[in-house]
Amino acid sequence: MNPQEKQAMPLPPGPPDQFDVGDTDDSLVKLVTYFESYGDIFRIYSPGRGTDSYVVSHPDWAKHVLVTNHRNYTKGVGINRVKVLLGNGIMVSEGDFWRRQRLMIQPFFHKRAIRRFYEMMIECNQALVDRWMENASSGKPVDVTEDVSEVTLEIILRAIFSEDLNALASTIGGNPFLVVAKESARDLRFAAQFRNLKKPILAIVEQRRSKGIQRPDLLSMLMSARDKRTGESMQDKELIDEVMTLIVAGHETSASGLNWLWYMVSRHPEIELKLRAAVDRLSAPMTVDSILSLDLVRHVIDETLRLYPPGWLITRRAIGGDVLGGFPIAPGSDILISPYLLHRHPRYWQQPEQFRPQRFAAADAKERYRFVYLPFVAGPRHCVGETFALAEMQIHVVVVIRNLALRYIGKEPVGMEPRVNLRTAHNLMFQPVLR
Ligand code: HEM
Repeated sequence: MNPQEKQAMPLPPGPPDQFDVGDTDDSLVKLVTYFESYGDIFRIYSPGRGTDSYVVSHPDWAKHVLVTNHRNYTKGVGINRVKVLLGNGIMVSEGDFWRRQRLMIQPFFHKRAIRRFYEMMIECNQALVDRWMENASSGKPVDVTEDVSEVTLEIILRAIFSEDLNALASTIGGNPFLVVAKESARDLRFAAQFRNLKKPILAIVEQRRSKGIQRPDLLSMLMSARDKRTGESMQDKELIDEVMTLIVAGHETSASGLNWLWYMVSRHPEIELKLRAAVDRLSAPMTVDSILSLDLVRHVIDETLRLYPPGWLITRRAIGGDVLGGFPIAPGSDILISPYLLHRHPRYWQQPEQFRPQRFAAADAKERYRFVYLPFVAGPRHCVGETFALAEMQIHVVVVIRNLALRYIGKEPVGMEPRVNLRTAHNLMFQPVLR
C-alpha cells in the first residue's frame, strides 16, 4: 500500500472524550463503555501525549501487534512510570539490550529450574494458613488482600535471596522489602523508598562475590548468568534492576490474582464445594506433583485471571506506520490491548460475565482461546514468570482449601481499581472457618 492510499483510509471511530488511558481511575469503565459502542478498534485522543491511542480488541490484530509484527512495536504509555521504579530491567528495556537480558534470565524460569522453589512455596503458604487457623479458632477476621500480598512477596524474596533474606531481616530489624507489600501507592514517594532497597541488595551481592558464596536461588543464578555472545556477566546496576523487576513483577500480579480468586470462590459456593472435594481426594501426604495435577484448581485460577486480569492494559507504541483492521496506524501511535475487554468479548466467550471455571476444561480450550485470553500476554515479551506464578497460585489455593474455608464479610460491591495492576478498590476481609 502506498502512502497516498494509506492517507485516504478512514481513521477508526472514537468518542469525543479525550483522556490519558491508565491515568484516571475511571479509565477501565470508560473503555468498557466505548468498546460497547465502537467495538474492536476505537481511537482516543490523549491530551498528555498529543496523539491518538487505538484500543484494539480483536484477537487477530492483537496477534499482529504482539507476535507477527512485534518488531514494529516498543512498550507504550505508562512505561515511564514503571521505569522510575525498575530502571532498565527486562520489563522496560528494549532492543538488543532487552534481548540479551531476556536470554540470560529466561532459563531460570523454565519448569525444571523453578521446581526447586515449590517446597518453599508450600512452606510459606502453610505458615500463612497456620496464622489464619488461629484467627479461625478465635473468630477473628483476616485481611486477605494484605496477607496474600505479603505471602507472594515472601515467596519471590525467598526465591531470589534464600537464606540471606533472614540474615538481612535480623541485621536491619525487620524485612526491609515489606514496604512493597504494605504501601499500595506507586507514586514518587514510594519510588524513593523503593530505591533505598538497592543498598541492602548490593551488600548481599558484594558479600557473596567476596566470599565466593553460591546459593540455590535466583540471585546466584543471575550473578552467574553469561551473555552467550560475549561471555560477559551483568554489571551490578543491571543485576539490581533485574532483581527489583522480579520483586515487583513477581508479587503484585500474583497477589492481585489470588485476592480476586478468594472473592470469586466465596461468591460461588458450588465451586468451593467442588474444589474441596478435589483437594480431599488427594492422598496424604500431598506432593507438589499431586497439587499441580488438580485440573479444577487450575481452571479456577484461569477463570479468575480471565475476569480480573492483573495486567488489564497492555501498551505498545508503533515505531513505523502499520495497518490494523484496515485502519492506518501512524508512527508513534499507542496501541492499547486490554485483556479485560478481550476476556469478556461477547463474540468469543459464552456468558462472558459469569464465573464458569469449567469453560477451561474443554479439550480444545487452549487453542480456542489463544489470542482472546492474554493474562500473561503472548509473543516474545510474554510474562517470563508465568510458570512460577501459576505454580505459586495453585499451591496457595490447595494449602488453604485443605484447611480452611474463607467467608467474605467485607463491603459490597467490590469495585475495581485499575492501576498498574487491576486491584480491588478496597481490601477484602474474610472470616476463616476451620474445616
Ligand atoms: C498472576 C501472575 C502474573 C501475571 C498475570 C503476569 C502478567 C504479566 C504481563 C501481562 C506481562 C507483560 C507486560 C507487557 O508486555 O506489557 C508480564 C511480564 C513480565 N512478568 Fe509477569 N505476571 C505474573 C507473574 C509474574 C511473576 C511471578 C514473575 C517473576 C517471578 C513475573 C515476571 C515478569 C517479567 C520479568 C516480565 C517482563 C518480561 C519481558 O518484557 O521480557 N511475572 N507479566
